[in-house]
Amino acid sequence: MKLCTDDMRRVNDCIHDNLQSDIAMIPAIGHYIINNGGKRLRPLLCLLIAKMFDYKGDRHIPLAVVVEFIHTASLLHDDVVDSSDFRRSNPSANAVWGNQASVLVGDYLFSRSFQMLVQDNDMGMLKLMSDVTNALAEGEVLQLSRTFHLEMTEAECLEVIERKTAVLFAAAAEVGAHVSGQDAQTIKDMAEYGMCLGVAFQLMDDALDYLSDEEAAGKPVGHDLEEGKITLPLIHAMNQDEELYARVQTIAERLQEPYHDDDREWVRDKVLQYGGTEYTMQKAKAYAERAITLLPDVPNQDIRQLLCDLANFSALRLY
Ligand code: IPE
Ligand code: IPE
Ligand code: MG
Ligand code: MG
Repeated sequence: MKLCTDDMRRVNDCIHDNLQSDIAMIPAIGHYIINNGGKRLRPLLCLLIAKMFDYKGDRHIPLAVVVEFIHTASLLHDDVVDSSDFRRSNPSANAVWGNQASVLVGDYLFSRSFQMLVQDNDMGMLKLMSDVTNALAEGEVLQLSRTFHLEMTEAECLEVIERKTAVLFAAAAEVGAHVSGQDAQTIKDMAEYGMCLGVAFQLMDDALDYLSDEEAAGKPVGHDLEEGKITLPLIHAMNQDEELYARVQTIAERLQEPYHDDDREWVRDKVLQYGGTEYTMQKAKAYAERAITLLPDVPNQDIRQLLCDLANFSALRLY
């Protein structure tokens, strides 16, 4: 991705500048979570698309930062909601500073994002990002309301995925096309590219929860079930095996009790045995392929190729 190294450096500088506050805890937690790795996939999407369309201005930098701030804020909140103590290969912010601090600094990142959008002074971008932030919140609440909802269908599962994850990828892609002055159809296609890539990305995340280990993922895995998240690998396997369905039901009913590790192993084996992860990864691949068909025919073939690679990475990744 060296074609974007300069822009990414500017993004990192802009992140740093926008984490300044005289309330010391804000830059402390902000830098902790933002400097501890993170793939920077969403800003990369925005930068690459602007570059593919030969954009020469500066607006994409703060807008890419807005996207990364919104993402990071949602992770700060997500780790509190999911009681997760590890993120980006380090103790999560809530594990170090506690839940209150994580929630409040998450709020700070959301509000800082909107200050930056006001500074950008484009009602179109303000509308895009406010709609996205709203959809993210709805997606997380929808997911919460579906905790241990064993009747969850594939379509319902995809709706959660679109709202909680894919809309932000779509917005990142749309920003790149919008700032470089593309026509309405191209902007729509690029947003759809981001959406498909985002769905592929979250489907893989859900498959990796059954397949990966903490070291590779940099965050806890194997916890979706105990959090009551009925994701596609599990849905696919439960549809084929009544015994698995019954066991998940039992797990849901005795939620108050400590979680048993052998449940996790048993369910995981069943999910793998019935091809739940395989099926989910195939779906992710199909979304990535659809994303690639939406890329326009542009002179800048190198960047176009990187956007193909990024879509494929989302559906093949191991971390
Ligand atoms: C994690 O996103 C949340 C999901 C949507 C699965 P990333 O995997 O992009 O997180 P970082 O930014 O690289 O840590
Ligand atoms: C994605 O859901 C989180 C957001 C979109 C905020 P997960 O709960 O699966 O994400 P991880 O696995 O904790 O990164
Ligand atoms: Mg989580
Ligand atoms: Mg996950």
